[in-house]
Amino acid sequence: MNEHAKPLTLSERADELEEEMMHALTERMVAKSALFNLADGKVEIENGQAILAANPGRYFLMGADPRLPAMPEKPTLIDFFKARFATTSHLLQSATHALKAGHSEKVILACLLHDIGVASFIRCDHGYWGAQMIEPYVDEEVSWAVRMHQALRFFADPSVGYEYPELYIKALGPDYTPEPYIVAEYEHARNHKWYMSSRLITMNDIYSFDPDAKVDLDDFVDIIGRNFKQPKEGLGLDNSPSSHMWRTLMWPTRFL
Ligand SMILES: [Fe+2]
Ligand SMILES: [Fe+2]
Repeated sequence: MNEHAKPLTLSERADELEEEMMHALTERMVAKSALFNLADGKVEIENGQAILAANPGRYFLMGADPRLPAMPEKPTLIDFFKARFATTSHLLQSATHALKAGHSEKVILACLLHDIGVASFIRCDHGYWGAQMIEPYVDEEVSWAVRMHQALRFFADPSVGYEYPELYIKALGPDYTPEPYIVAEYEHARNHKWYMSSRLITMNDIYSFDPDAKVDLDDFVDIIGRNFKQPKEGLGLDNSPSSHMWRTLMWPTRFL
């Protein structure tokens, strides 16, 4: 039974108020990064000095955000799947498709990771963001494939039965044409020795989400173990060229 079910005495209420005030004082303040405001259509950033002046005795958050799921001290890729990727079903469905088709572990891993840029960071140029995040930890062919799916998905390849996705006509409008940098990337990728690895991402990409599909991250734990070089210090704490990206994902509201 909830102890608050019966009315509090005055002194109990005073204790509670004091506790709340202590909590408010020790709780660190979260400031929004400029990018979060840009997403709301505002070119703005809060004035840190003004916030400090209005909140004497309080400090800005410089670590884990208590509102988000806690991360272990030495996080792994799996931990990010569980605690930071906003959606994983599309990734798991694509990887499951590739697994069932009997593709190589490199291709399956590429399918599993191809949209982590969207799932964790930002939609714009997500293939590039995702590739950069994984680059230090995977075979070059895997990150190359993830990067290039950004462009390849917009271009049909009848020789392997890949057509421009119906979904893009619906989502982007019938008149959308890729920007020149995407066309240039496509032309470069088309003649590359790893073209088919990236093309296979687009072919296993599940454009129509199936809410009933049975997927399980456990199906990929071994493939991740063999093909993703998990840093012993923890992903983000290993000082690789992309560690800062994983740290930002771990602590997205750190003041600095
Ligand atoms: Fe994608
Ligand atoms: Fe995708």
